[in-house]
This record gives sequence, C-alpha cells and structure tokens, in this order.
Amino acid sequence: MAQLKVLVVDDEPGIRSGVARILRNFHVTYPFMDEDYTYEVLEAATGEEGIEIMERENPDIMLLDNKLPGMQGVEVLEYVRRTNHEIIVAMITSYASVDIAVKATNDGATDFIPKPFTPQELKSSIEQITKQQYLKRITHQLDEEGKKIRYQFLSVLSHEMKAPLNAIEGYLQMMKERQLGDMVDDYASPIERSLQRIQSMRNLIMDLLDFTKVSFEKHLENLQEVNLEEVASAAIVTVSPYAIQKDIQFENRILNCRSIWADPNDMEIIFNNLVSNAVKYNKTGGKVIVTIDCNDTELFLSFEDTGIGMSPADRDTIFDEFSRIKNEKTRNISGSGLGLSIVKRVVALYHGVITVESALDKGSIFTVIIPMAQVQNIKDGL
Ligand SMILES: Nc1ncnc2c1ncn2[C@@H]1O[C@H](COP(=O)(O)OP(=O)(O)OP(=O)(O)O)[C@@H](O)[C@H]1O
Ligand SMILES: [Mg+2]
Repeated sequence: MAQLKVLVVDDEPGIRSGVARILRNFHVTYPFMDEDYTYEVLEAATGEEGIEIMERENPDIMLLDNKLPGMQGVEVLEYVRRTNHEIIVAMITSYASVDIAVKATNDGATDFIPKPFTPQELKSSIEQITKQQYLKRITHQLDEEGKKIRYQFLSVLSHEMKAPLNAIEGYLQMMKERQLGDMVDDYASPIERSLQRIQSMRNLIMDLLDFTKVSFEKHLENLQEVNLEEVASAAIVTVSPYAIQKDIQFENRILNCRSIWADPNDMEIIFNNLVSNAVKYNKTGGKVIVTIDCNDTELFLSFEDTGIGMSPADRDTIFDEFSRIKNEKTRNISGSGLGLSIVKRVVALYHGVITVESALDKGSIFTVIIPMAQVQNIKDGL
C-alpha cells in the first residue's frame, strides 16, 4: 500500500474538509500497479500557507483554488514551476475562465476540477493524477536502474581489461629479464599467448562499441540494400581461424530474401555474434547451419549448432547484459556475456524477436524473426 499526500489549498473550510472526507477511504488500483494507493489530505487556507506546507511536507498532489485571499492560485503555480517541485497540480475553481485555464496549463497545471464538484468527479480526477504520478515514479526508477547497469558495466569492463593487461605485462617482463634465453625463438609461447590476449581484448572493445552504439545512438538511419549471404559468409570468415582449430563445418541455406533493406552494421552484429557463438560453444568436429529465409510477412534467420547446448533455466538469462553460463564446459571459453544482449537490442530496433531452442549436449538453434515490413525483400534483378 502506497500513500500519496494531497495538499488542498482553498480558503473555504467546507471544500477542504469535503476533500478530506471524500478521500479518507478512497483507494486507487490498476492492474499494472503492484500496490494500491491511498491518500493523506493536508489543508492550507491561503497560497502562502500552501507553499509553506509544500516545502515542509513534500506532497505529491496539490488541489489549488485560484481565488485566494492573498497570493492567487496562478502565482502559487508559478512558484511551483520556478522551484522545480515534482508535485502535480490540479486547479479547483469556480472562476475557471478560459484565460486562467490557458495560463495555468502553460504553467504546468495538469487538471481542472470545477467547483462545486461531486465526490465522484473528485475521485476520478484523483485517479487520473495518481496514474500520472505512478508513471513518473516508474520512469524515475528506470533511470536509477540505468545507473546501476552502467556501474555494473564499468566494473565488469575494468575487470575484463585488467586481466589480459596483467598477463601481457608478465610476458614482457619475462622477455626483458631474458628469463627463457637470449633468442626470440625462446619466447614463441609467451608471444603467442600475448597475441591471444590482445585479440580477446580487441573483441571486448568491439563488443563495447556495438553496445554503446545500440544503446545510446538513434538508429535505423543508414538503411541500404544488404546482401545477407555476403554478411553470413563474412561472419564465417571472421570466425574461421577458430573454426578450423575445432574442425567445424558450415552450411549456408539461403532459401529466400538474399537481399533486404536494412542497416548493414546491424545485420553484421546479428550474424557475427550468432555465428561466433555457434562455433565457440560447439564441439570439436561439430556443424553450424545458417539459414536465411522469408515469406510475405516475416524474415527468418536461424543459427543451428551441434554444441554443448544449455538447460531451460539458462535459456532465460543469456540475453541479459554480462550473462554467461558458468559450468565445466564453458570454463575455458572466453567472452564478456554482452553479445546476445546486443543482438537482442538490434533485433528489437526492427520490431523483431530472438528465441532459442536448445538441448544439453546436443546443440542450440537461435532464431531471429523480423517483420518483412521493416526490411523488405529486394528481389534479384528488380
Ligand atoms: N550457441 C550456444 N550454445 C550454447 N551456449 C551458448 C550459445 N550461445 C550463447 N551461449 C551461452 O550464452 C552466454 C551469453 O552469450 P553472449 O554471446 O551474450 O556472450 P559471450 O559469448 O559469453 O561473450 P561475447 O560478448 O564475446 O559474445 C554465453 O556465455 C554462453 O554461456
Ligand atoms: Mg558471444
């Protein structure tokens, strides 16, 4: 149960006590809210007193009469706006002329309750205002969560960057002190390992660049014809050094929609990440099948592997930022856990969805479905 404070600023005692009576046992609930709202009523007989109570009690809602003995309602409203109070103001006045209404709305009043009002009229206004307050709170909360995610982001980032730097520093130190001999050949292994660490750091940086681009930049601007077959082949070439080591075979099934209308970077993000995962989490001698298809309404991309798979519980978390499945099989596979969260954001830009089917030890199929209206099929020769 959450309580909102309602401040009534009116010189008529009858109005103040009427509002208090009507709201005493009133509560508001909506299916999307997780708790009911009730109300505590505070009373002020003048604008000056209203401001004083507002400063002291920080109420959520103000019901404000315009015609007051000293300071007028619109002046109180001006004060509220100038001092950036979060309060929602509704004017209650029998002198609600068009002029006052326009001025008050410009100054941030959100509602009018004409006097005299019935209990029902007051309740429905309060209900509306409550909904607004609720949405405001939720938005604020989301901003706060955004901060938390940024913090988490920075701590994971520093950790992931520090580890390879320490390793490379150690190898260089070994060489500087000639610990393994005087010949370059003596250091083949530390050099190779340093190069690997640099490569994984580069991958992380590329992920981060994608992540910030997709998170913070306006999107769907660089739209052009994209040949998905080429994007798929490029993704396979990128991952091939690793795929050769693991003896992975590829199959491209291009059934329809070879070319579409999209931002090429977005398609590269989707293919690079899903192809790289299909190799990374595959078994030696495994297979990866990439399918590109569409019908009149949907573009359909699928990435099937014969790898380690995942349990149903893990399937729910892998699209979150920094989420990685930790077990015996994934222990020696490096990654930041950002790839799928980036893919999910990109797919959402096109109003699409990404899903996964998977069986432990058998393999996984990641499927991306995007409405054709977002990408249009560019038929060859047209
Ligand atoms: N094809 C797959 N088969 C099995 N597990 C997978 C597959 N793809 C992803 N996963 C699991 O989901 C997790 C998240 O994948 P994601 O691509 O987001 O991050 P990552 O591969 O760990 O790092 P990177 O940011 O380098 O891509 C992985 O750590 C892995 O545990
Ligand atoms: Mg990945």
